[in-house]
Amino acid sequence: MKVTISTFQKLKGNGKITSITAYDALFARIFDGEVDMILVGDSLSMSFGGNKDTIPLSLDSMIYHTQAVSKVVKKSLLIADMPFGSYNTNKSALKNATKLYKEGGADAIKIEVNENKIDMVKMLSDNGIATMPHIGLMPQFYRFEGGYKIKGKSKEEKDSMLELALKLQDAGAFSLLIEGTKSDIARDITQNLKIPTIGIGSGNHTDGQILVWSDMFGFFDEFKPKFVRQYLNGKELLKKSIKQYADDVKNLRFPNDDESY
Ligand code: KIV
Repeated sequence: MKVTISTFQKLKGNGKITSITAYDALFARIFDGEVDMILVGDSLSMSFGGNKDTIPLSLDSMIYHTQAVSKVVKKSLLIADMPFGSYNTNKSALKNATKLYKEGGADAIKIEVNENKIDMVKMLSDNGIATMPHIGLMPQFYRFEGGYKIKGKSKEEKDSMLELALKLQDAGAFSLLIEGTKSDIARDITQNLKIPTIGIGSGNHTDGQILVWSDMFGFFDEFKPKFVRQYLNGKELLKKSIKQYADDVKNLRFPNDDESY
């Protein structure tokens, strides 16, 4: 059964919600149905695009990757990130989110949101575009803030995050992604909201968790945040295999007779 926006929302309070990123059909096919939700995250700018941050990613690239993933995802809920600069104003947000939603084929979009973007969430939701605001540490503010900064350290910051979360729920957000915050504020938001919260680097009290697949499977090791648990040593396994292949070719062990016509 395909997870829809409404079945996803019903997962709140019924055990933890699971999610992962995917950027292409190959991996999305493997992940589909194993987790409740798949995100075509703009983190693909770093792991696939080779960029230092998420900022260079274009809307066209995001549409291309979302199309690849949506072609094969049949069970998990599918969400696509709006890239940096594609939702600076309500007008550009509606135009670009409509394009991504129509052409990409995801069930919902995700935008990084502060107090200035509450109206945008309402406007997108009112126009039938299911929207997941991303709060706390926002990777698209990496250059502006001079790095990745954990949020919710002071009482003031915690209070304004909770207020923001409540306003976003009222504005029509179907779920919230909370990144890089102290666990207690992620817990307070989760307990005060009716919509599900998905956390990354925000402790164990959110309704669900998400990790970036290339981090958790050990393919991307240029930057390893403390919250990442590595489930596979992907880079080492591939390195070993590519070396073996090259060695086989050089030493005339590949192809053998069975592998030839
Ligand atoms: O782009 C992404 O992969 C994300 C994660 C931090 C969830 O937004």
